Amino acid sequence: MSIKTFDYLKSLPEIEHKILDAISRVLHSNQLILGPETDLFEQKFAQYVGAKHCIGVTSGTTALHLSLLALGIGAGDEVITVSNTCTPTIAAIRLCGANPVFIDISDDDLMMDITQLKMNINERTRCILPVHLWGSCVNMSAILETAKAHNLAVIEDCAQACGTTYRNQHVGTYGDTGCFSFYPTKNLGAYGDAGAIVTNDDQLASRLRMMRTYGYDTSAVSQIEGMNARISEIQSAILHIKLQVFDQWLERRLGVSKIYNQGISNHLISSPQLPQDCVPSYHQYVIRCKYRDELMDWLQSNNIAFGIHYPVPVHLMPAYSSLVSKPLKLPITEQSCNEILSLPIHEALTSEEAKSVVGTLNQFNI
Ligand SMILES: Cc1ncc(COP(=O)(O)O)c(C=O)c1O
Repeated sequence: MSIKTFDYLKSLPEIEHKILDAISRVLHSNQLILGPETDLFEQKFAQYVGAKHCIGVTSGTTALHLSLLALGIGAGDEVITVSNTCTPTIAAIRLCGANPVFIDISDDDLMMDITQLKMNINERTRCILPVHLWGSCVNMSAILETAKAHNLAVIEDCAQACGTTYRNQHVGTYGDTGCFSFYPTKNLGAYGDAGAIVTNDDQLASRLRMMRTYGYDTSAVSQIEGMNARISEIQSAILHIKLQVFDQWLERRLGVSKIYNQGISNHLISSPQLPQDCVPSYHQYVIRCKYRDELMDWLQSNNIAFGIHYPVPVHLMPAYSSLVSKPLKLPITEQSCNEILSLPIHEALTSEEAKSVVGTLNQFNI
């Protein structure tokens, strides 16, 4: 038996008829971009997370990039974020000419360290960019309090946290904007690339709507500088169908997480804590192990797939290491990157498969 980390083909039959109908409807509608499917998905997704506006875009990366641009962040500005993230968080900051300031994470939950955040604010700081990695979340109360005290923008990277709540409110609705990715492996995954920005700010929303389509007003005149960052009608239609089963599929993910929480008892393995007041969506189920190489061999020999999110922190990657002027020490980030491992978790993983993963982990020894 081979246990996979991602297997959309397994859950596809549950919604396949609806998906094919939706694709056919769009093909025959004669409107492939910015039509009724996008309007409807945006309305439903905004409703789902409890935001006033949703702007559908091409990807999570463009959601971050456009948010930064729309908030006026550019050359010479500093954006405080973490290095244990997916590269696009940093790519988006660089794409608008700003500089990322990497700070360390807390050893307990492996999310942005608020003390480090406060220590790194200076006159060039314009924005805080917390990353809700793995479906966990950052302490948004502390982020908002700090942002308010220093008049900083807040952009939430929710690419991995669709369905996560903090203090009974969806992540993405705390900051100036919340940026979601619908890359196929995400909790809410399109069948292709897509993303969305949510915001409660009317003016920001209308700016973002114009910016995703060349800065056009309704008469196709560019009133502000923009780009092409439009979600497609086909992906919007697909996402609308998947949103209707989202809570049900999320429940199954949580079911798998419970089997792992209750079953894993190997003293060589631990899990990052969940921040207080966070109800996670378990985009990834992450464990820590000091003997990760041996554990990877063990899982491989038992036909269990796994991921590492992520093996190299961004400040140590060749593309971005030159941005750090002095040798930057992020000891907790660096240590965690050597110890973390993501177990299989998705809506189609059976409890038998999850129990088999637990059994294999509990037999691991060195
Ligand atoms: C934390 C994080 N931020 C941003 C992104 C970018 O999303 P996308 O791949 O849709 O551009 C991802 C996607 O993998 C991500 O995991």
